[in-house]
Amino acid sequence: MDVIHLSAECYPVAKVGGLGDVVGALPKYLNQAGINASVVLPYYDRKFVQENTFDTVFKSSTTAAGKTFNYSVLKESTRQLGFDLFLIYIEGLLDRKEIYCYPDEIKQFISYQVCVLDWINKTKMKPDVIHCHDHHSGLVPFLIANSSLFKDLAMIPTVCTIHNGQYQGWLGWDKVAYLPSIDLSKAGLLDWNNCINSLAASVKCCWKFTTVSPNYLKELSVNSNGLEKLFQLEARKGIGIINGIDTQVWDPETDPMIVKNFNAKTADQGKKENKKSLCKEFGLSDTKPLVVFIGRLVGEKGAELLPLAIDSCLKKYKGKVNFIVLGSGEPEIEKELEELKLRHKKQCGVYIGYDEELSHRIYASADFLMMPSRVEPCGLNQLYAVRYGTMPVVHRTGGLADTVIDMDDSGGYGITFNKLEAEELVNAVGRGLEVYKDQNKMSDLRKKMMSLDFSWGRSAKEYIELYKNLIISHAV
Ligand code: ADP
Ligand code: GLC
Repeated sequence: MDVIHLSAECYPVAKVGGLGDVVGALPKYLNQAGINASVVLPYYDRKFVQENTFDTVFKSSTTAAGKTFNYSVLKESTRQLGFDLFLIYIEGLLDRKEIYCYPDEIKQFISYQVCVLDWINKTKMKPDVIHCHDHHSGLVPFLIANSSLFKDLAMIPTVCTIHNGQYQGWLGWDKVAYLPSIDLSKAGLLDWNNCINSLAASVKCCWKFTTVSPNYLKELSVNSNGLEKLFQLEARKGIGIINGIDTQVWDPETDPMIVKNFNAKTADQGKKENKKSLCKEFGLSDTKPLVVFIGRLVGEKGAELLPLAIDSCLKKYKGKVNFIVLGSGEPEIEKELEELKLRHKKQCGVYIGYDEELSHRIYASADFLMMPSRVEPCGLNQLYAVRYGTMPVVHRTGGLADTVIDMDDSGGYGITFNKLEAEELVNAVGRGLEVYKDQNKMSDLRKKMMSLDFSWGRSAKEYIELYKNLIISHAV
C-alpha cells in the first residue's frame, strides 16, 4: 500500500512543534509495518537539507497562485529517515529558511499543494491514499475532487489529520483565482464564514478526518475557533487516534543528547546526574525538586499563567522547589518570564528560544513537567516526560485527559487539575512536592511511568486500519 503524507513540518528536516514530530515518526512506523509511506514537504534551506544529499527526480512547470513557474521534486538519497522524503523546490518561493510567517505564505502553500498534485498526475503515480496534515495541505482534497487538471486523481482516498484546529488557513475570496481550473459551482466547499478556509475545505472534502486524540474530536464540536457547526455536521467522518512517540529518538537509555543515559531500573541515579549538570548550567541548586515547562509561550498552552504561578510557588513553597522554562512565543510572556528570572535567579532558570537538545536534557533531568494547556489536541511533551521518568502536571483537557491518569486514581502516575487558573496550577505543583518527599513512592511512580507504552507501534496500526477500510470502500 502506498501512502503519501503532505505536511509543512517533519522532524528532523523542519520542526516547530508536535506536527514535525508526528510526521517524522508515523511514516517510519508505517514502513516498519509494511506500508510504503512517504513524506512530501516544501523545500527549506535548513540544516538537514544543507547537510544531506538529494536527487532531482522530477522537473516540470505549472500554474498556481496567479503565476506559471518551474518546480523540481528532490528526493533524499539515502532513505535515512526510514521513509522516502521528497521536497518541492520553487526558486524564490519554496527555497527559504523559515517554515512559517512569510508575508506570501498563502502563495507558498498553494503552490506547494498544486505542485504535489501536478507531479503525482504527470508521473501517473497511483498512491492508495493521500494523507494531509493540518491546513497547509488542506486544499488538496478539494483540488483533487474539483479541479479539471486533476480529474484522474479524483478517486484517490484522502485523509486529513487535524493537529491543531485553531489555525485554519484563511484566505479572502479574492484569492480564489489562485486555485487552478476549479469548478466554481463547487466553490461553496471552500467557504466558511465568508472566506476560504483551508481546514474547513479539507474536513468537507476529505474521505475521513482524524484528530490526534479521541477527546479532541469531541471537543472540536464545542470549541474549534468557529468550526464547531462543521464538526457537528461532519462527525460521522471523524476518528480520534492518539499520537504515539518515536521511542527510537526518545529513549533515555540511548539518547545521545543527555548527560547520563538511564532506564527504568537506573532512573533514580540517572536522573540525578542529568539534573546535577543541568542545574549547574542554570545556576540552580540540584538538591531541590525541579519543575519545568517546555513549549510555545502562547495562550493555547496556558503560558500566560506561568509567571504568576511560578512566582506564587516560589513564595508558597519557599526554598523547596526550582523551575526551568524553555520556550518562545508571545513577547509579553517572554518579557514577564525574563523578569521572573531576574527576581529569582537562584530558583528559576529561563531560556527563551528553541533548542531541541536542551529540551532532551530537561526531560531527562526534571522531576515534574507542567502543561497548563488551554487547548491540547494531543500533546507530546507529557509522553516524552513519562518516557524519561518525569511526572506530568497537566490541565485535564484534550489529549492530556486521554493520556495522563492522576496518581490518586487507579493505575495513575501524573497530576491533573480541572480549572485553568494559576492557583490550581500552584496547588497541583504542591501535590507534586508532597509526593516528592517520599522518595520510595517517587521511585515507584517513575518506574510505573517508564514502563508505559506510548510508542507509535499501537497508533500506527489504527491508521493502517483506516487506510485499509478506505481502500476497501473505494473498491466496492
Ligand atoms: P505543539 O505541537 O502544540 O507545540 P506538542 O506537545 O505536540 O505541542 O509538541 C511540542 C514539541 O515541540 C515537543 O517535541 C517539544 O519538546 C518541542 N518544543 C516545544 N518548544 C520547544 C523549545 N522551545 N525548544 C525545544 N523543543 C521545543
Ligand atoms: C499540534 C497540537 C499538539 C499535538 C501536535 C501533534 O501542534 O497542538 O497538541 O500534539 O499537533 O499532533
